[in-house]
This record gives sequence, structure tokens and C-alpha cells, in this order.
Amino acid sequence: MTPSDGAHLAAAAHRVPSVRADLAATFRTALNSAFPNVPMEPQVAATNNPRFGDYQCNNAMQLFGRMKGKEGAPKKPTDVANAIVDALPASDMIAERPTLAGPGFINVKLNHGWIAERIHSMLVQGIGVWAPPLPYNRAIVDFSSPNVAKEMHVGHLRSTIIGDTIARSLEFCGVDTLRINHVGDWGTQFGMLIEHISDTRNGLTGTTTEEVSDLQKLYKESKARFDADDDFKARARAAVTRLQSGEQEYLETWKRICEASRDEFYAIYERLDVRLLWRGESYYNPQLRPLVEELHERGIAEESEGALVIHMPKEKQPLMIRKSDGGFGYGTTDMATLKQRIHEEKAEWIIYVTDEGQSGHFKLVFGSGKKAGIIPEENPPRIDHVGFGLVLNKDGKRIRTRDMGEATKLVELLDEAKNLCKVEIKERRGEETDEKLKALNLDAEQIEERRKKRGEPFTEEELEEAAAIMGYGAVKYADLKNNRKTDYKFNLEDMVALNGNTAVYMLYAHARIASIVRKVGKDVNEVAKTAQITLEHPAEIALGLQIVQFTETLEDMFVDLAPNRITEYVYELANLFSTFYTECKVSGSEQEDSRLLLCEATAIVMRQCLTLLGIKPLYRI
Ligand code: ARG
Repeated sequence: MTPSDGAHLAAAAHRVPSVRADLAATFRTALNSAFPNVPMEPQVAATNNPRFGDYQCNNAMQLFGRMKGKEGAPKKPTDVANAIVDALPASDMIAERPTLAGPGFINVKLNHGWIAERIHSMLVQGIGVWAPPLPYNRAIVDFSSPNVAKEMHVGHLRSTIIGDTIARSLEFCGVDTLRINHVGDWGTQFGMLIEHISDTRNGLTGTTTEEVSDLQKLYKESKARFDADDDFKARARAAVTRLQSGEQEYLETWKRICEASRDEFYAIYERLDVRLLWRGESYYNPQLRPLVEELHERGIAEESEGALVIHMPKEKQPLMIRKSDGGFGYGTTDMATLKQRIHEEKAEWIIYVTDEGQSGHFKLVFGSGKKAGIIPEENPPRIDHVGFGLVLNKDGKRIRTRDMGEATKLVELLDEAKNLCKVEIKERRGEETDEKLKALNLDAEQIEERRKKRGEPFTEEELEEAAAIMGYGAVKYADLKNNRKTDYKFNLEDMVALNGNTAVYMLYAHARIASIVRKVGKDVNEVAKTAQITLEHPAEIALGLQIVQFTETLEDMFVDLAPNRITEYVYELANLFSTFYTECKVSGSEQEDSRLLLCEATAIVMRQCLTLLGIKPLYRI
């Protein structure tokens, strides 16, 4: 970590608004002064075609419509637009008088000196000043959340990856974030598991974690018995009750099973560098009965065919909070969870990350939460269900754990990604053996030259580390770059491709900038103290503009919780850098200092994006 990367911790207080927000504030002033009687929020957006400037203000048409027919109303939308432009306060942000296009769009060009200044001050103060301020102090992200004794599947992997990026983004913005693993650790599956364990080892006394560590096998065996043997089925059901009523040996065995699952899950989180607090469904167990009774008494929940349900006016299905056999289920737990999170944890923003298939469930939970007053009417927390699509195999079919077979457990899949990258790094680096060099008939000087160019060869450790970062990063990035709601095809080869929108491409792009900076050989922090950035070449200007749009990218990502906003942004950043580097000489040029600072700013922003995506940046590959 370079000093400027870490500075955000201290710098949070001096955050600057996004360019878009800054410009919107300028237009707000203009709107208020030109049309004080027709209050309207400024509509400012980046243009997607530089021909129309960098940003647009789109208020004129709507304002015209609102005033139409009133006394003294402007004659056409362009008159409104002109009046807005006339009322713009002096600002060093805007380069020249904005121009009009079409029926009344106002096109704004930013002042290049202003962009340069903004980048320069980020270099001095750290990227933290570019974290958008969020109106929440405390958030909960409920993600990953696999089920004990069942295998963690690709859906849980998606949840882990997406949830981690959301949590990282919140943390970057200074929000105190609780990362909760809402593990399914209290289902009816425990009855059959425990009963089966008891049968195979003659009772439950002293069961160890090792004995239950092959959970897949245990699950399969007990499920087969459960389906085939009525007597076993009855005992398994009774075991659920004995467990839930807290019988010692049942509880102990249940704990061992959870521990075994936990070890498996956390082995994956460790590889992926994801932190998660284990707080499973069982955590809320003591709160279920009193909550259900309360909801019943207050008439929020009603009886229906022996069960207890909460009806919502617009929904066909009610939320079941007590089954007809008296048991509590997924919905009951989620009601208790909601209550605990709002009233005990004091969360101001709660985010649930699961497959899109659960959106109906969450609609019912949130609706019931409102109906029951668990979600307060005044100052309610923001609550989102972040749904995602399926993972498909190469043939476009849904990948199920079952189809993946024994050989493609998540761990093995991650291993495979890492190994592909290892081969690729070795090849790219041309880690040449002495024999290989000899075969090329080079003289000693030429050999030295080649070595220098490549840098020191990687140690085995460095190679392992880089391959892991790249391989796991590739899997994460390939997931995050999709619109989360669409299904995507899982294709490892595409994920580790060197070209295109992949983690591998991004990591190389970052390492390349780092090497350019190293090659100039100056202390960037010292350069930043004396030199300014000047943006003159079109490629410099385009890169500069992209750099300062980091903040609004994050703002957009928070609106619909879409990590692909970050990947799209960073991909474009890498491409613009590439154009800049092809067209503008850095080392040894007249503009060396300014361009060096631009390189470093690009690298810092890129690193921050990678970090938010859960990918460790590499400085040398
Ligand atoms: N364990 C559930 C599953 O595997 C996901 C839990 C999501 N969180 C929640 N609060 N319901 O589908």
C-alpha cells in the first residue's frame, strides 16, 4: 500500500463531491435564480458523445412544459435553456459558455485546468477524498449464506463475490458495515443427519468434528434412508424436535456438524480474501416463538389451514410464519432477523444478496415487516434485495452442484483458475532457462539485456502469489462484470483471457503503469509537491476526465447496487490509459512530470477499483 492509498482513512472529512454533483450544484443555483417560481432539481449527466461536450443539463424541456400557457412564459424550450445558461454563476469548472443542442439540451465542457487541479489534489490527499459520502452510518450486508451440511454451490459463490464488493464499497465510504453470513444452520436436515450419525456410531456421546467431516457423504446416506425407510423418517422428525428443544447430545452433535461445515466454507473465504461473520439462522431461534405470538395477538398474522400467515394486499402468496405442524421456517427466521437488525443492530441500510429466485420471498418479508411496524414508518432504513441470475455451463444450461460432480467442487474450480494463470504468467514472463537462452545464440551482453528488461525472475513464492491473485481475481471479475440479474456462462478460459474485459487484462494494465512509474525513477510524492498536471493532448484530456469520474461511478453503483458499474469504468480507464501511452511519451519527454502524475493517478484509481472488486493489485507480473 502506498501512502496515498491509505490516506482515505484520515481524509474522509475533506471529501469532495463528484463532478456531476458539483456541476448539478452550479445548475441548481442557475435554476433557482432564473426560474425561482418553478422549483426543479437539476438534471445533469455525463454525455456519451464528446461531440456534445462532457456533461449535459436537461432541465429546459421539462421546465418549458411546466410554464407553458402561463403569463410571460418563454416561447420555446431553447429560450429556457438560454436563460439557465445566462444565470450560471461564475465557475472555474466550466470551460466556456455552454452551447445548446436539439430542443434545449445544454452542453457543458469542463475546464481542463480544473480537471487537472482536482486530480492533483487527490494525489496529495489520497483517494479517500473521492469516496462519495453516504447518508448511512451503519449497514448490514447479508451475503454468501450457504447451508450447513450441504455443499456451497455456485450461487453462494456469486453471493459471496457480489456481497463482498458491496461491503468493500460501503467500507471505503466510511460506513460501519456488518458482513453477515446468514448460514442455514437450523433446518430439518439436521434430524436425519443426527439420527444417521447416531446409528452408524452407536449413539451420540462424544461425536467429534472429524467424524462428521465428510458431510456430503453423510448427507447423501441419510437422505437415501430418509426417502426409503419410514421408520427412519419418523425418528429423524423426532430428532428435529429433540434438537430444537435443546437436548444435550443432539445439540452437541449439531454443533460438530456446523463446525465441519464452517471449516469447509471458511477455506473458500480465505482463498477469496472475504471476511464474514458467522451468524446463522439458529442465532434468532429464541426470538421466533415470542415474535410469532406477538404477531398473532396483534392480528398481523392470521390462521390459514392450520398455519399462521401474513397476508399482503397485493400479493397472491402470504408469508408463512408457522407451519401447520407448528414448526417455524425460513420466513419466520427472516422476520426475526429483520427485527433484530433494525432494532438491535440499528442498521440504517440492510442488503440481502441471494439469487433472483428469492425476490418473491424478500418482497413478502419486507412487506410483512412494514405491516407489522418492524420497519418504522418514520425514517425507515433503506432495505434492498440484491438478486442475481444463474450460472450456466458452456451449453447454456444451469450449473447445479449435482452436475458438477465430485471433481468440480468450488475449491477445485478455484485451483484450476489459479493453475491456468500460473502457466500463463510463466509464458508471458518468458522465464527462460539458461539452456533456452543458449539455444538463442546470444552473447553474455545480450542475455544480460534480456534479463534486465524482464526484471528479476519470480521466486516460486511470488509466482504462487501472483497466480492466486490472478486466478481468483479472474473468477471474481468475470462474475462482477455482468449485469447481476442476467444469467452468465461460466467459462474459465474466457475468464483468464489476457485481452478483453478481464481481471488478467486489468492486472497487467496496472502492473504496466507501475513499471512506467518505476522507470521514470522519481519519487512521485515529491514530484506532486512541485509539479502541476497539464492536460493538453486529447488523449490526456480524455484520460483525465475519466479519472475524475471515479466518484460518480461509485454513486451509480450504490443506486442499483451494480458492481458492473465499477468494472465498466475501470475497463474504460485502462483503455484510455493505453491510448494515452501510445500517443504520449512519458519518460524523457518535456511533460515528464505532469505525465508521471497522470500515470500515478490512473494507477491509484485503478488500484482502488480492483480493491473494491476484491482483487489485490499486482505491481509486477
Ligand atoms: N441460506 C439461504 C440459501 O442458501 C440464503 C440466505 C439468505 N439470507 C437471508 N436472510 N434469507 O438460499
